Amino acid sequence: MKRVAILISGSGSNMVALADSMTGDHPARPVLVLSNVATAGGIAKAQAMGIATAVVEHKPFGRDREAFEAALIETLDAARPDIICLAGFMRILTPTFINHYAGRMLNIHPSLLPKYKGLDTHARAIEAGDDEAGCSVHEVTAELDGGPILGQARVPILPGDTPDDLAARVLPMEHRLYPAVLARFATGDRTPVVLP
Ligand code: GAR
Repeated sequence: MKRVAILISGSGSNMVALADSMTGDHPARPVLVLSNVATAGGIAKAQAMGIATAVVEHKPFGRDREAFEAALIETLDAARPDIICLAGFMRILTPTFINHYAGRMLNIHPSLLPKYKGLDTHARAIEAGDDEAGCSVHEVTAELDGGPILGQARVPILPGDTPDDLAARVLPMEHRLYPAVLARFATGDRTPVVLP
């Protein structure tokens, strides 16, 4: 059984979708939900689901990213994770952290990568006049939002869509895509998942 740690910064809806999926004959189980924000809504949700939680705030470390990540690694490694899922974890990670979990860290990003790496993905897709948007799950490498793509899901962009409209259409697809990719990845299968 693979041990999965999920890193969040916010409401944790992707974390809930991942945790909900890891039951029965699924090859993985959630062992830790970790947030860098003490007030993240996802922490209370994980606790209600009976999952161990931890908070490692970045703020006390100021600009010292290395020290923050050393604290993250110490807390994470105590849970002996086989797989790390970034699920709305809004800190940029250094190569030191990424190398520590090389080949076993996933991220979900709200765009059809390689388009729109970084922030404000939905506004940028609308601004560009695209007729579709979506989400991607990828392996985390040193290149921001640039690792091998392990799954994508598409939705249309409709006339008059605001970024919030688009986010509301993409998020339910994220909740389907991430568990589908994790279920494959946990068996060692890296064949990309394509939804719908
Ligand atoms: C999700 O839309 C996720 O794709 C995005 O943050 C949201 C987290 O929502 N991630 C990024 O933008 C990463 N750069 P959640 O906390 O409800 O899962």
